[in-house]
Amino acid sequence: MLGFFTMNDIQAGDGARYMTELFSEKNKNGLTRDLIEALFPMFEEASAGAIAVDGESRITWINSSYSHLLGLGDPARVIGKPVRQLIPHTRMPEVVESGKPLLLDIMEHNQQQLVVTRLPYYDESGRIVGAVAFVLYDDLQPLTPLVSKYRRLHQDLAAARKALAKKVRGTRYSLGDFVGASPAALEVKRRARLAAGREMPVLLLGETGTGKEVLAQAIHTVSARADKPFVGVNVAAIPDNLLEAEFFGVAPGAYTGADRRTRDGKFQLANGGTLFLDEVGDMPLPLQAKLLRALQEGEIEPLGSNKVERVDVRVIAATSRNLEAMIAEGSFRSDLYYRLNVLEIPIPPLRDRLADLGVLCEALLGEICEGLEFRGEITDAGVSALGSYDWPGNIRELRNVLERAMTMGEEGGILDADAVFKVLPRSSARPISSLTPQPVRPLAQTLADAEAQAIEEALVASRGNRTRAAKLLGISRSVLYEKLAKLS
Ligand SMILES: Nc1ncnc2c1ncn2[C@@H]1O[C@H](COP(=O)(O)OP(=O)(O)OP(=O)(O)O)[C@@H](O)[C@H]1O
Ligand SMILES: [Mg+2]
Repeated sequence: MLGFFTMNDIQAGDGARYMTELFSEKNKNGLTRDLIEALFPMFEEASAGAIAVDGESRITWINSSYSHLLGLGDPARVIGKPVRQLIPHTRMPEVVESGKPLLLDIMEHNQQQLVVTRLPYYDESGRIVGAVAFVLYDDLQPLTPLVSKYRRLHQDLAAARKALAKKVRGTRYSLGDFVGASPAALEVKRRARLAAGREMPVLLLGETGTGKEVLAQAIHTVSARADKPFVGVNVAAIPDNLLEAEFFGVAPGAYTGADRRTRDGKFQLANGGTLFLDEVGDMPLPLQAKLLRALQEGEIEPLGSNKVERVDVRVIAATSRNLEAMIAEGSFRSDLYYRLNVLEIPIPPLRDRLADLGVLCEALLGEICEGLEFRGEITDAGVSALGSYDWPGNIRELRNVLERAMTMGEEGGILDADAVFKVLPRSSARPISSLTPQPVRPLAQTLADAEAQAIEEALVASRGNRTRAAKLLGISRSVLYEKLAKLS
C-alpha cells in the first residue's frame, strides 16, 4: 500500500524519492514490479507529470508538475479523491482492475492531448494495490508523428460532427454567429431570442449583407422547431410564373408536361419546421393573396389539385425593401404585411454600429483563415481605418474587404491601417483627413492616385472579378493587368 506517503512528504514535493522508495522494497513479486523499478528513473526524467492511485483508484500521490498541468492546483488537496473525478478520461481504474499495463495511450484533458503510460503495482503477496501513471512530454521525438496524427484525426472528426449536425438541422447558423456587442446588436439578439421562444411570424428588415439569413437560421436553431426542417425560399430568385408551384407544390398531371408524381412545395417541405421567405417584398400581388390565405388558414392548395392540405409552418420573412412605402404605392398588401409583421426585427446597417467592427473583424478573420497555417489579425489602427468607410454592402462587404486585405498582404501578416486603406473603396469613404486641407501635390501623383483608387473600387464592385472590373473601367483586361502589376 502507499500508506507511507504522508501529507508532509507531498508538501516536501519530493515525490520521486518516495516513488523510488516504494519500488525499491525488498519483495520482488512479479515481472510488472521489476519492470516498473527498471523503468522508473527513465520515466521520471521523460515525464511531464506522474500520479499514483490505490486499489480503489483514489489518488495517493501526484507530483506538482502534473497537478499544475491538469490545472488542479495544490497537490495536497486532491489526495484521497477518486481519480476519475479529477481526470475524467483517465484509464487508471481499468489498469487497477485488469492488472494490465497500458504502455502508451493518448488521453484528452481540457482540450489537450497527453501521452501517458500506466502501470499496475503489487504488494508482497502479488495482489494489485494500485497503479502509477506518467505523462510523457509530447515533444518526445518518436511520439511526435503519433500525436500529430491523433490531433489531426481528432480535428477532422470534430469538424465532421459539426457539419453533420448542421446538415441534420438544415441550418448553418446559431445566435452566437450573429456577432456584435453594441447596444443595437444586443437589441437584435434580444428580439431574436424572444422570437425563438414563441411561434409567431417574424419580419426581418435590413439592408443587404446585414445578416438577415444568419438571423433567420439562428432563430430556427434555438426554437422548439430546431430538429424540424428549415426551408428557405428566395422570392426574388424565382420567376413569377413558377412561384406558386414552388410554394404550394404540384398535384400529379396538373398541367401538360407536369410530372406524374406529386411535387412538394416549400410549404410541404417545411411542414413542422420553419419557412424562411427571403426578399418577401419581391412577391407579385396575386401570390401575396395566396400566401396570406395559407398563413391565415394553415392550409394550402397544390397547383392542379382540388384538395387542401394542412400545413404547420412558422414563417420568418425578410426584406431589404421599404414595405410601408410599397403598401402606400399599392405593390404590397397591407393585410399580408400585418400578418407577417407580428414581431419586427430591424437589423441596423454596419455604419450605425461601428463599435462592433473590432469583434466582427476578429470573427470574420477567424473564418477566413480557418484551415490555414496562420491566424488573421488586425491592429487597432486597422479597425479605425475600416471605421472611415460607410459600408453600403454591410458585413458581407466587410468580409470581402478583409479577405482581399489578407490576400494582398504578406502571408501571415497582420492587417494595419495601410493594408486596410489599400483595399478599401474610397469613393464613399469619409476620409479622416477631410477636415484638414490637403497639401497640393504634383499632378502626376494625384492622377496616379486617382487611377489606383478607381481600379480598387472597380475590383470591389466586381467582387474581385478582373474581367468585370475592366469592363466597368472601360479598359481592356490586359491594360487592367498591366496597371495592377504597376500598382503592386
Ligand atoms: N452579425 C453578424 N455576425 C457575423 N457575420 C455576419 C453577421 N451578419 C452577417 N454576417 C455575414 O455576412 C454575410 C451576409 O450575411 P447574410 O447573408 O445573412 O445577409 P443578408 O442580410 O441576408 O443579405 P442579403 O439581403 O444580401 O441577402 C454572411 O457571410 C454572414 O455570415
Ligand atoms: Mg439574404
